[in-house]
Amino acid sequence: MYQKFDPGAVPLIETEAAPLREIPHYLTETYWWAYVHPRAVRFFDRMVAVNLILFGNYRRLRDAALAVLPSRAAGRTLQVACVYGDFTPSLLSRLGPDATLDVVDVVPIQLENLRRKLPASAPVTLYQRDSEALGFESAQYDQAIVFFLLHEQPEAVRRRTLAEVLRVLKPGGRLVVVDYHRPHWLNPLRLLMKPLLARLEPFALDLWRKDVSHWLPEGLAIGQVREKTFFGGLYQRIVIDL
Ligand SMILES: C[S@@+](CC[C@H](N)C(=O)[O-])C[C@H]1O[C@@H](n2cnc3c(N)ncnc32)[C@H](O)[C@@H]1O
Repeated sequence: MYQKFDPGAVPLIETEAAPLREIPHYLTETYWWAYVHPRAVRFFDRMVAVNLILFGNYRRLRDAALAVLPSRAAGRTLQVACVYGDFTPSLLSRLGPDATLDVVDVVPIQLENLRRKLPASAPVTLYQRDSEALGFESAQYDQAIVFFLLHEQPEAVRRRTLAEVLRVLKPGGRLVVVDYHRPHWLNPLRLLMKPLLARLEPFALDLWRKDVSHWLPEGLAIGQVREKTFFGGLYQRIVIDL
């Protein structure tokens, strides 16, 4: 078993001339074994591991997220938080010839790991940023993707993350969220997942109790919100059009 992880031991990198962000408390306390400890990256960043965690649904959910982006998407795309597996290379392959992708993550080893998975010439910029204070100008991005991040965050952080991502989207832009959802009452996995999430991912059950729209900023002009669930309701995809 891993020792509880001391974030001071992470070799920090600067991906651009900006002050390094502190790793949030909920990551070092609750998720150090998944994202912060260097051994976590080696252990979890394989298709077999990510697929196991999602009961074989990794590709299906990845493709569901990408399917609601325009094919050969143009303009600027923002991915909020790194994802294990081939999520970002797959996202890149959907972008058009002049499109660019920015990826933010607050944990430097996650960004280093992602950089290794991308071709050197890929039109991608990596930023060490906290999702709840992105530090980008408003109305910059045509589309943004948040894949399995919200369930990791305490409620107040989740609310600020959604507000930030929507702030940096252009009018008419699209936000795609994929995450956990309350399973259908007939789904037998609810009996396994409820105690498992309560033990390992304590904020995740919020997404069983409330719809994502509950954490959207009040008063924001939103064009359309569409929800689709997968795998007996255990997962959801939300598409928010401004
Ligand atoms: C997207 S989520 C989980 C993805 C999924 N479980 C997978 O297959 O990898 C994990 C990432 O979110 C990042 N993260 C968590 N909180 C963050 C925050 N406040 N700002 C930026 N990145 C954050 C973690 O560092 C980690 O790389």
